[in-house]
Amino acid sequence: MMISEQMNSALNKQVANELNTSFAYLAMAFELDDMGLKIFGERFVQQSDEEREHAMKITGYLQDVGGKVVLSGVDTPRSEYGSARSMVEAALESEKTVTRQINDLVSLAESEKDYATRSFLQWYVDEQVEEVSSMSELLQMVEMAGESNLFLVENRLAKMMKQEQGKE
Ligand SMILES: [Fe+2]
Ligand SMILES: [Fe+2]
Repeated sequence: MMISEQMNSALNKQVANELNTSFAYLAMAFELDDMGLKIFGERFVQQSDEEREHAMKITGYLQDVGGKVVLSGVDTPRSEYGSARSMVEAALESEKTVTRQINDLVSLAESEKDYATRSFLQWYVDEQVEEVSSMSELLQMVEMAGESNLFLVENRLAKMMKQEQGKE
């Protein structure tokens, strides 16, 4: 095994964190859909898929370095937020939490002189900048529109998602 036991379990913990986030976003997606915000809901399904990919990238790395993937139970996600705004606020908080988790992993890798893991984690450092930024933007959109005009956010998201599709 090319990584320490401690790093292995810290990475497994992050797999669980990413999967919990994935589940939390999926719960938000269903609630948004129930509120009649179909595209907003789709956006969160997309986010949820991305978080699962984040988890899978770590399991891939663990396999590559001869570590052991251990999955743990996923927490029951919060539901009944009651408003799109409180949901996106919670999502932004969650992205900030993940950023701290990634930073802690980087610190651990550096303290262990584990430069392979440090390098692997750089992708997550950069990704979190994007994630916090795009969630902040979404929150701003929701705040500007107000709960009664969320269709404006729907329109904007629809355009953004179409553009992103074009890029892929
Ligand atoms: Fe993530
Ligand atoms: Fe994220």
